[in-house]
Amino acid sequence: MIPIKEEHEIAKMHKAGRILAEIMELLSSLVKPGITTQDLDQASVSTMARFKVKSAFKNYQGYPGNICVSVNEEVVHGVPGSRKIETGDIVSLDIGIELEGYFVDMAKTFPAGKVDAQKERLMEVASRSLDEAIKKMKPGNKLFDVSYAVQKYVESNKFSVVRNFVGHGIGRELHEEPQVPNYGIPNTGPVLQAGMVLAIEPMINAGSWEVVVLKDGWTAVTKDRKPSAHFEHTVAVLKNGPKILTQ
Ligand code: MF3
Ligand code: CO
Repeated sequence: MIPIKEEHEIAKMHKAGRILAEIMELLSSLVKPGITTQDLDQASVSTMARFKVKSAFKNYQGYPGNICVSVNEEVVHGVPGSRKIETGDIVSLDIGIELEGYFVDMAKTFPAGKVDAQKERLMEVASRSLDEAIKKMKPGNKLFDVSYAVQKYVESNKFSVVRNFVGHGIGRELHEEPQVPNYGIPNTGPVLQAGMVLAIEPMINAGSWEVVVLKDGWTAVTKDRKPSAHFEHTVAVLKNGPKILTQ
């Protein structure tokens, strides 16, 4: 069963989402050569405290960080640690928060200094693939129309879509039904209805789609160690179309 949210619940999630967008912007300004991923994690702790919100990730299934920081070949779930950001890196920040019993989730990939043309294009294509997916989030469309929109846009740009991780419903829990793959067959899957809220999160690789998880049990990297980008919004399906809650 895919939960349907009432208007007042979506309003609450939007309030949380606006705060999350602000936290994302503040932390993104720290993404510079020389900072470590755990410095970013620490900054997230004080920033979340200031906004009186809780990390949705800390201790989730034992996750040790407060946010996920994934650099270059790291795809998702990068555990913050001693890795130093270098000029030319791309850095994905994935942040989830809880406010008044509701969760919102968001990710963006940022350049540290000047990055090469391939990474620049990878970020651009990943970000646009999320926009393409969101456009499909209208009542009456089917779930895998959203999935296919990502796949079509990414593959026509000669990049690949990660298959082992998916987007998800979100609301009273960080992960609710349904799972939202970033590939699929159009005009199939559950029918989208007003009141559904989904976290759409394309993870896009420059090389092959295959990923492996490092020994820390969390950090997922590309098998070929080529770079990866990740963008995510929490989006409500409304009567008149999609509404991005994390902005
Ligand atoms: N955005 C990711 C997700 O929704 C981040 C989860 S990290 C975890 O799955 F620590 F919470 F697992
Ligand atoms: Co998510």
